[in-house]
Amino acid sequence: MSATEQIEIRRLGVTEAYAQLDGLAAVLADCVAGGASVSYMAPFSHEQARAAFESVAAEVEQDRRMLLAAFAEGRVVGTVQVVLALPPNQPHRGEIAKLLVHRSARRRGVAQLLMEHAESEARAAGKTLLVLDTVTGGDGERLYVRLGWTKVGVIPDYALFPDGRPCDTTVFWKTL
Ligand SMILES: CC(C)(COP(=O)(O)OP(=O)(O)OC[C@H]1O[C@@H](n2cnc3c(N)ncnc32)[C@H](O)[C@@H]1OP(=O)(O)O)[C@@H](O)C(=O)NCCC(=O)NCCS
Repeated sequence: MSATEQIEIRRLGVTEAYAQLDGLAAVLADCVAGGASVSYMAPFSHEQARAAFESVAAEVEQDRRMLLAAFAEGRVVGTVQVVLALPPNQPHRGEIAKLLVHRSARRRGVAQLLMEHAESEARAAGKTLLVLDTVTGGDGERLYVRLGWTKVGVIPDYALFPDGRPCDTTVFWKTL
């Protein structure tokens, strides 16, 4: 991806979510191969990544989750989700999950664009509060601070990197 290439961000409905499964899976598998702590352990195959996004597509169909994708020349280069289905006493809240950008498309503002669109779609869906957690000291942490998210604190040894090393997690919130 060149620096001048146009990025298009789209919220995927269920049909497009299923149609883009391979592109979404390629981004997830690339992030795990690159050492990102995003729920999965190495080795992590394309088929496993595809199965993960099949579950996401099923939740899109039930309106339990929003799925957004970033496209460069028709190819998926990044993605993010907003969890909508939360307990009955938290209808105003959503959770950001799985902000992922393919290593070949990083440091060109793709994640920032995905987050701006996710926040605006969440607001349009009636959400007034978003929360997320991210690897402490990772690239995501700087991005969220830059986008005006408030840091709650750090939970030590919250999760594992794909190679099994423990990693701390930082929790953030943002009002919309
Ligand atoms: C975290 C992640 C999503 C960021 O994606 P990204 O598209 O590279 O993010 P952005 O391009 O918006 O910002 C990244 C950096 O590039 C810089 N940048 C943005 N546009 C730029 C441009 N045109 N030229 C040069 N630098 C640019 C940003 O200022 C930022 O700099 P910083 O890291 O020094 O603060 C990506 O690294 C990733 O997928 N990591 C693995 C998964 C993960 O950790 N996800 C977050 C967990 S919730």
